[in-house]
Amino acid sequence: MTACKNKQVLLISRPKGIPTADNFQIVESVLPVITRDQVLVRNIYLSVEPAMKGWVSATENYAEPVALNSVMRSFATGVVIDSLHPNFLPGEFVTGLFGWQEYALVEAGVIDRKIAAHSLPISTSLGVLGLNGMTAYFGLLDIGQPLSEETVVVSTAAGAVGSCVGQIAKLKNCHTIGITGSQEKVDLCRQLYQYDQAINYNDEKFEKELAQACPKGIDVYFDNTGGIISDAVLQLLNIGGRIVVCGTSSISNWEEHPIGPRQERKILVNRARMEGFLVFDYKERYPEALAALTEWVSAGLIKYREEILCGIEKAPCSISSLYRGKNLGKCLIQIYKI
Ligand SMILES: NC(=O)c1ccc[n+]([C@@H]2O[C@H](COP(=O)([O-])OP(=O)(O)OC[C@H]3O[C@@H](n4cnc5c(N)ncnc54)[C@H](OP(=O)(O)O)[C@@H]3O)[C@@H](O)[C@H]2O)c1
Repeated sequence: MTACKNKQVLLISRPKGIPTADNFQIVESVLPVITRDQVLVRNIYLSVEPAMKGWVSATENYAEPVALNSVMRSFATGVVIDSLHPNFLPGEFVTGLFGWQEYALVEAGVIDRKIAAHSLPISTSLGVLGLNGMTAYFGLLDIGQPLSEETVVVSTAAGAVGSCVGQIAKLKNCHTIGITGSQEKVDLCRQLYQYDQAINYNDEKFEKELAQACPKGIDVYFDNTGGIISDAVLQLLNIGGRIVVCGTSSISNWEEHPIGPRQERKILVNRARMEGFLVFDYKERYPEALAALTEWVSAGLIKYREEILCGIEKAPCSISSLYRGKNLGKCLIQIYKI
């Protein structure tokens, strides 16, 4: 293949709190020539994750921070256009940590998986049939362990992870309550994601509405936000309640300690279990989650939405937009049309 140009989004400075467009720069570099057993992928969809806030921060995290002046870390789905590795052939669709760039020249180990041929769009490999769906699956079923007729409360309930959690809980015959940030998303929760009730946390009567929606208390709390939403939810926790600590979207900056009520007594008195989890620890069981999710989505039992931005130029401001709650569903950037 002749030398070609590769547009890339570099991280050029570390944000204080939520990353903005100023923290990134788009550059054009020359793609190195493929060698050894490398695979060249042309990215089609780039993913935007709330976790990117942590990935670009120097604050302690589960992964090393993205180095300054390097390509922004990101999941992406693309098509193999050249391969010196026997397991990958041109034309195959693959997904992995390919970064915010047009082309990714990678070792085979960077590829998470090939995308199986089915009738669902390949964009789902980054959302409901990717990281988000699998996070919902393992977080709810392994950590939350909901039982039939229990009450399950989900924060960022209309989001990529939350919408899936609510629907899996419904499949397990639970009473589901979604918490989200606007009336539009409350409507989505009720109408599309089939929550029994949905509440806007920006409503001044939020705590009262939450209590009314959970007359039997709360058995499982799938926590994507932390902060004041969690403070309200934990007040309603039942004995033996489970709190799945999945994300901390409401805490904009970990450099200062967030302030709030101490919950230790509540956890003790209610013999509750509060457990953090990371989907990456479940890699060996991804096929199990993928099989279940593909079946549910194909049968129309799990609905999903995608918010697709067009062009790599949209990447630098996409994380701050996500934190403003602008996305109605999984946020993706399409950079190549197939
Ligand atoms: N543990 C893991 O392995 C793992 C894996 C993947 C994702 N996650 C976590 O799961 C959560 C959801 O991820 P996602 O990809 O599905 O994102 P998402 O929910 O689609 O988008 C993020 C949402 O966060 C909400 N938000 C932003 N600022 C907030 C604030 N100050 N207070 C309350 N809510 C706020 C907004 O929804 P509203 O409009 O409803 O406020 C926004 O739409 C994130 O915390 C993410 O880090 C964890």
